[in-house]
Amino acid sequence: ELSPIDKAKFAAAKRSVEFIEDGMKVGLGTGSTAAWMVRCLGERVRNERLRIKGVPTSARTAVLARDVGISVISLDEAKWLDVTIDGADEFDGAFNLIKGGGGAHLQEKIVATASDRMIVITDASKEVETLGAFPLPIEVIPFGWQTSKALVEELLISMDVMGRETTLRMNGDVPFISDEGNHIIDLHLNRIGNARQLSMALNQIPGVVENGLFIDICDTVVIGYGDGRVETRD
Ligand code: A5P
Repeated sequence: ELSPIDKAKFAAAKRSVEFIEDGMKVGLGTGSTAAWMVRCLGERVRNERLRIKGVPTSARTAVLARDVGISVISLDEAKWLDVTIDGADEFDGAFNLIKGGGGAHLQEKIVATASDRMIVITDASKEVETLGAFPLPIEVIPFGWQTSKALVEELLISMDVMGRETTLRMNGDVPFISDEGNHIIDLHLNRIGNARQLSMALNQIPGVVENGLFIDICDTVVIGYGDGRVETRD
């Protein structure tokens, strides 16, 4: 028996795959909600013999997609995608997002940006007035990461951001390593006043590869509820 939150995630995931049509190239997100979507899409592929191509946003998603019978290609093979379906950690009223709680936001942002449409699947608890209660992940290359971290802290002071704590994401006793071989620094900001400006400024810092703010990328949000209801906004 699924918990209410998992029922909500499943309901959103199940509804989102109804947007997929035969022949489409589909970006496959990462995380527990996206995993439900990949399973639901696999079921449609098997039952309806859909000839779709999936572009995974992480090694984990690639393994799952192949397991459920989705044909997997790289983004470079696909070149562009019809749609990407992915989860999020927070979304606001303008469909701006924080992603990267699972550490996959670099590939996720590249794949979503290469898509005609991005659909976010979520439970209602992730909707916020202002982004930032969820720690904002930034991916940094391992070389000189402490210098990059110090530069980020200076930037936060100069931008007058509320919370300024930064933490290196760990995997037990060792730093977390992303699929691209990088580290993640989580920014505990509480409230992000100007997400667009912050996103651009963070990506200017040497060593920062990408941050978890998705600005003007998401087109549709599919919200699931614990009782199985689903709401689609676009
Ligand atoms: C992965 O890096 C994230 O961007 C995920 O999309 C996010 O963490 C959502 O995960 P859940 O669906 O498990 O909440």
